[in-house]
Amino acid sequence: MNKYAVWGNPIAQSKSPEIQQHFAQQQKIELDYQRMLGDEVRFEQQLAQFFASGGQGCNITAPFKERAFRLADLHSERCLMAEACNTLKKLPDGRLYADNTDGAGLVTDLQRLGWLQPQQRILILGAGGATKGVLLPLLQAQQQITLANRTLDKAEQLAQKFSGHGVIQAVALSQLTTQRFDLIINATSLGLQGKVVDIAPAILQKCGAVYDMQYAKATDTPFLALAKTYGVAKSADGIGMLIGQAAHAFEVWFGVMPEITLLI
Ligand code: ATR
Repeated sequence: MNKYAVWGNPIAQSKSPEIQQHFAQQQKIELDYQRMLGDEVRFEQQLAQFFASGGQGCNITAPFKERAFRLADLHSERCLMAEACNTLKKLPDGRLYADNTDGAGLVTDLQRLGWLQPQQRILILGAGGATKGVLLPLLQAQQQITLANRTLDKAEQLAQKFSGHGVIQAVALSQLTTQRFDLIINATSLGLQGKVVDIAPAILQKCGAVYDMQYAKATDTPFLALAKTYGVAKSADGIGMLIGQAAHAFEVWFGVMPEITLLI
C-alpha cells in the first residue's frame, strides 16, 4: 500500500485526505493517506520516523512548511524560491525531495477560471509566506506583478528576490494609486480574523476580478464580500487553489496529473 500523509498543527480541518483519495480512485491507485498532527518540538523526528516506517511522501501545511524545506536533501526551483515546502517525496536512493506546488495550484485554478492571459497586471495584497509561495509560477506564466504590503520593506525584499524572473514591483499598501489591475489576489491572512486589508475602493471598483487565496465554507470570504459590494463581477476563493496544489503534489508522487474539475 502506498503510504502518504499530510502534516500540520492543527490538522483535523485538513481536506487533503479526501482530495487525495479522490485522485487516487480516479487514477486507480491504492492510497493510504492520513492526517498527522505535527509536534512543535519534535516535528523533524516525527517526519524521520514516518519515512523510516514506510512513508513515501507527504504534504506539509502550517506551521511546518519552512521546517520541511530545511530538512529536505533536494529541492525544486519553485520550492527553493518559495523557501517553503508543501510536498515531500522519498526518492529511491532514500533522499528527501521537496517541492512547493502552491503556486502551480493557483496558476492551474486561474487557468480553469479562464483568468490567465499573458502580460496581465496582477495586484497581490500581502508579502508573507503565502505570497512567496506563488510568485515564481505566476511570473513564469508571464504575469506582471505589483506587491502591496503594509510593511513596504517586506514587499521590496520579495520583489528584489524575484526580479530576475519577470516583471515585479513593490508598493506600500498605503501608497497604492488608483490604477486598473486585471486581477487582485488577497494573500494576507486577515480573513481568518474576519478582516480585510485597507485599500482604496476605487482600486476594487476598477479591477477585472478578485481572487482570495483563503476560502470559506458556503459563504464569501470577507475580502470577496467587500469586493462584491464594490461591484466586482468576477470573484473566486482559494478552494480551487487547494485542489490544484493537491493535484500537482499527486503528480510529483505518482507522475500523473489527476483530473481536477470534477471536484470543484
Ligand atoms: P502567511 O505566511 O500566511 O503569508 P505572514 O507571513 O504572517 O502569513 O503574512 C501575513 C501577511 O498579511 C503580511 O503581508 C502582513 O503584512 P505585514 O508584512 O505588514 O505584517 C499582512 N497583514 C497582516 N495583518 C495585516 C493588517 N492588519 N493590515 C494589513 N496587512 C496585514
